[in-house]
Amino acid sequence: MQIIDGKATAAEIKKEIAAEVEEIVAHGGKRPHLAAILVGHDGGSETYVKNKVLACETCGFKSTLIRFEDTITEDELLAKVKELNEDDDVDGFIVQLPLPKHISEQKVIEAIDYKKDVDGFHPINVGRMSIGLPCYISATPNGILTLLSRYGIETKGKKCVILGRSNIVGKPMASLMMQKRYPGDATVTVCHSHSPNLKEECRHADIIIAAIGSPHFVTADMVKEGAVVIDVGTTRVPDPTRKSGFRLCGDVNFNDVAPKCSFISPVPGGVGPMTICSLMKNTLSAGKKEFYK
Ligand code: GUN
Repeated sequence: MQIIDGKATAAEIKKEIAAEVEEIVAHGGKRPHLAAILVGHDGGSETYVKNKVLACETCGFKSTLIRFEDTITEDELLAKVKELNEDDDVDGFIVQLPLPKHISEQKVIEAIDYKKDVDGFHPINVGRMSIGLPCYISATPNGILTLLSRYGIETKGKKCVILGRSNIVGKPMASLMMQKRYPGDATVTVCHSHSPNLKEECRHADIIIAAIGSPHFVTADMVKEGAVVIDVGTTRVPDPTRKSGFRLCGDVNFNDVAPKCSFISPVPGGVGPMTICSLMKNTLSAGKKEFYK
């Protein structure tokens, strides 16, 4: 059994990105610039955005953090999005979610120029991804693809069961794993809360990608000997021994399941660290105008 080390992989990739950025700059190119809009003071969002800014520093990117109070109106936020769309110095930007209830997240996402949508949330990027065209792929699915390929995990002709059908993980993951390329070419089954035969489907899977947000949902009796298990769960469970007061709990009962696996990603330290790394990869692509001119 091999543990998929997302933390080490992410660090390695950020190093590679930093080297490429220095090469670009040395040849007179532009340093990639990521802007992030943060609305309000949600603890989780504050941490994510802080880590995104730190990752930009590691990669040698320019970054700009734009903060608003949660009293900002939808129109004011849309005006800032328009300004960033038109700012030639900004290669890519993100609006950290969730947004306050009075602002339509979908409206904001669709207001972002898809050519700068490094989160890959705009319907044009989602659509292009689903038909295999060059585009920004969202952070979590992209991170999982990177882990599969960096670990040389075979996917062609494999039965891949995805637990969860969310727009940000389950659906794009299914789309990517069935695509005609590596990592992909898998036979994909998506299971969710209304799937009657979920456990049986998992028992036949060569690859399980668990993204249902239910702590320790996947147990050893659901896993075939030699399977690859990717855990996307990040449920916060109270833990008074931690300074933060919580710890992250995956969708997979790791201790129970790991002995049966060929590869398994842990929580924390698996998919999680790869998500920011994927955003950095997209920002580098944005700086290089790799997908869109
Ligand atoms: N909130 C949680 N994850 C994400 C993400 O990947 N991008 C944005 N913009 N907001 C998030």
